[in-house]
Amino acid sequence: MSADIAALLQTIADEAIALTDQGAVADYIPALANVPPRQFGIAVATVDGALHRAGSADQAFSIQSISKLFALTLALQREGDDLWQRVGREPSGTPFNSLVLLERESGVPRNPFVNAGALVITDVLCHRYLQPERAVLEFVHRLLGRTSVAIDAQVARSERLHSDRNAAIAHFMRSFGNLRQEVAAILDAYCAQCAIAMSCAELARAALFLAADGVQPGAARVLQAPDARRINALMLTCGAYDAAGDFAFRIGLPTKTGVGGGILAIVPGRMSICAWSPRLDATGNSIAAAAAIERFAATTGLSIFR
Ligand code: DON
Repeated sequence: MSADIAALLQTIADEAIALTDQGAVADYIPALANVPPRQFGIAVATVDGALHRAGSADQAFSIQSISKLFALTLALQREGDDLWQRVGREPSGTPFNSLVLLERESGVPRNPFVNAGALVITDVLCHRYLQPERAVLEFVHRLLGRTSVAIDAQVARSERLHSDRNAAIAHFMRSFGNLRQEVAAILDAYCAQCAIAMSCAELARAALFLAADGVQPGAARVLQAPDARRINALMLTCGAYDAAGDFAFRIGLPTKTGVGGGILAIVPGRMSICAWSPRLDATGNSIAAAAAIERFAATTGLSIFR
């Protein structure tokens, strides 16, 4: 199986380069507009400790919304089920940065992966930690067993200077009483957390606890098994926003995407997969990375539905 995975990843990487001219990089965060777009990487980490990679799998990129997974895990560790009083568990059917449902639903976001939900999670972390973005970063360090990952300060500043939309979402939720800290502090922490830079290999390894019932292989328990399964359920239904149904149909695995072009997928009990390529489709998800994970799942037959 190991040799097969390595060979398959190489084939996928060779083919994916042809897709890297489709779509557009996320330029609403100006620092991301400068990322050279014709890049592709893929890595697979297995629960028994193997790591396979192809293409630019060791190139660090902006993890953006994939950071919401780590922030949610940390908030769940601290708050437990009380968290679900303030954020829902339903797909939104709207873009990641939409405000439309918030008025009808009294400032309670549909799920922790749309920006509104992630801002509630950041509010929780702001209450628990003096430097919430450091808490998320240090959590990633513990998952990896090393401290090599960092926040890209330039990307964080660039997003913070252009965060009117997230500021609007945050102020609106605060008017309903669903944010407790000051909006400016929440946005500072949120933009810094999204600006964590990691490679496909690092992301695949860091997220392995989600494939291993909440235990990080070779390290400690991160979450109780039911909570790890619930995060996988949220990834399947909400991880790709209004493309989540299409991703479930095409890929059949829990995924989490980011506008930096990364996509993380979990095969429960087996492995985690991370693919990256900067150009995105209209829903904000990487075209080449989605195609690569779709191809991997189809060729291996791995799916949560089999
Ligand atoms: O808040 C934002 O808009 C970005 N920091 C993250 C959005 C994102 O990655 C959406 N995922 N595809």
